[in-house]
Amino acid sequence: MIKVENVSFKYKNSNKTILDNLNFEVKDGEIIAIVGQNGSGKSTIGKLISGIIKLKHGNITIDGLKIKDKKVQDKIGIVFQNPENQIIFNNIYDELSFSLKGLEKAEIESRIENSLKQVGMLEYKNNDLYSLSLGQKQRIMIAEVLAKKPKYIILDEPTTMIDSQGKEIIYKIIENLKNEGYTIICITNLADEILIADRTLILKNGKIAHEIENEDLINKSYLLKESGIKEPILLEILDKLKENEIILDIKNFTVDELIYKLKGKLKDEKCN
Ligand SMILES: Nc1ncnc2c1ncn2[C@@H]1O[C@H](COP(=O)(O)OP(=O)(O)OP(=O)(O)O)[C@@H](O)[C@H]1O
Ligand SMILES: [Mg+2]
Repeated sequence: MIKVENVSFKYKNSNKTILDNLNFEVKDGEIIAIVGQNGSGKSTIGKLISGIIKLKHGNITIDGLKIKDKKVQDKIGIVFQNPENQIIFNNIYDELSFSLKGLEKAEIESRIENSLKQVGMLEYKNNDLYSLSLGQKQRIMIAEVLAKKPKYIILDEPTTMIDSQGKEIIYKIIENLKNEGYTIICITNLADEILIADRTLILKNGKIAHEIENEDLINKSYLLKESGIKEPILLEILDKLKENEIILDIKNFTVDELIYKLKGKLKDEKCN
């Protein structure tokens, strides 16, 4: 479990309070979406939890250990928005093995193989990174984190720069990782990315203004709108249907489920 308790934060060179007595928890096996307007402090939270920037006020514990603890750093991996800024080597093997230094060669090989499999990129093992699309590069960045065998993964706007086909592939990877038991924090600006989470935290004025369980999204999507965050298209469609007295009991928020439920509704109406 990740516990963020009474965390306040200001950058050294600025007087602006970014996080103001922030509190939240992430349970093991959950996918949490953190949303908020530009500059609301989402990336700052990711950097604090992953230890990239130093915590000064409050507490962050991971499985009961303070984030300063060396053991904690191995439990967490973070992937940023732009894979281009994270790549060090041209060769995929070199890139993935870089952070595995010190491990035995066979262990490195097996970790690289497994993590490339997890992101569907095993066939590219011997390719140059620069020959890949942005979406494929991002999948390699996810593999790099997975190769370190973390328990918690922070994705900071993982698909913002990626085309829609690439986005779908990454959403599927995130879903698979959840099924494999990883705990994921997905920081996002994209409405549709919220739908892959179990719970959405809305960050406002340095605090969690609202916390919405995914299954309540349909009734609470106004909280997203109120906070200046775009509603997922699927929820917009469901809202419009509701306005027209077509109420669908949707649980997973997938287009397939929407079509399935709509078809059922049409059938019922024909029968009546
Ligand atoms: N190194 C830094 N020094 C000073 N101020 C910073 C630094 N990094 C970020 N900030 C400021 O802190 C605030 C929060 O930034 P942060 O990157 O956490 O927001 P965000 O919610 O991730 O925004 P975005 O949606 O644009 O990614 C912003 O006002 C930003 O300008
Ligand atoms: Mg950010």
